[in-house]
Amino acid sequence: MARRKLIAGNWKMHKTVAESVGLAGQVATELKNRQVDVLVAPTALALAAVASRLAGTPVMVAAQNLFWEDHGAYTGEVGGPLIRAAGASHVIIGHSERRQFFGESEKTAGLRVAAALAAGLVPILCVGEALAEREKDQTEGVLESQLAGALAGMGAAGLGGLIVAYEPVWAIGTGLNASPEQANQAHAFIRSWLAYRFDKKVAKATRILYGGSVKPANAAGLLTQSEVDGALVGGASLNVHDFLGIIEAI
Ligand code: PGA
Repeated sequence: MARRKLIAGNWKMHKTVAESVGLAGQVATELKNRQVDVLVAPTALALAAVASRLAGTPVMVAAQNLFWEDHGAYTGEVGGPLIRAAGASHVIIGHSERRQFFGESEKTAGLRVAAALAAGLVPILCVGEALAEREKDQTEGVLESQLAGALAGMGAAGLGGLIVAYEPVWAIGTGLNASPEQANQAHAFIRSWLAYRFDKKVAKATRILYGGSVKPANAAGLLTQSEVDGALVGGASLNVHDFLGIIEAI
């Protein structure tokens, strides 16, 4: 079966609860393309309100991060069961901004993936190389080590619909997107790694999203690549017309 495309909006640290609910409502109301899955990731603060606004619509909700312990004395953190109870079905893990600003490592990404799966959340695991790594021809090595670290100890049966997002760090928020060919090549590498590490079935079923300066104008070129199963959209997801423009580009 062909993999269904997924367009996910990562709202990062933008939008109040009221603004998030408003934007979520606009996306759900104005969405026409029902051939794709659509997901939005508001701040943790707005998860419950956005999930409640989107109940009964096809638009799904993701958290932008989770802590790996379920409950306890962890001031400022939010664990998987709380996120699930707020109404989210997915969670973004290991975003490069988490790695850059919050010291996240392959090991902590792995703890978060395991915690997400245990809580019944679908992990969206972000991987991607920095510009210097691409220039030194280290892209595949970086992707391999990020994937291997975050999925250490996992079995094919327990991946819970895992989604991988290929987000070259040099393309995030910079206006420089990977070319469709560069994206397809990296996705093909990730898929071959999944086949080698798990099996062909996992490789075939796993959706691999591209992220990094996706806009309505470049979406069709990226999304028609054979290995690109959707997009993780930052900046352009904050504007309903741009976000829907990307969805309609499929
Ligand atoms: P961008 O962000 O679309 O603004 O480049 C993508 C992301 O960080 O997921």
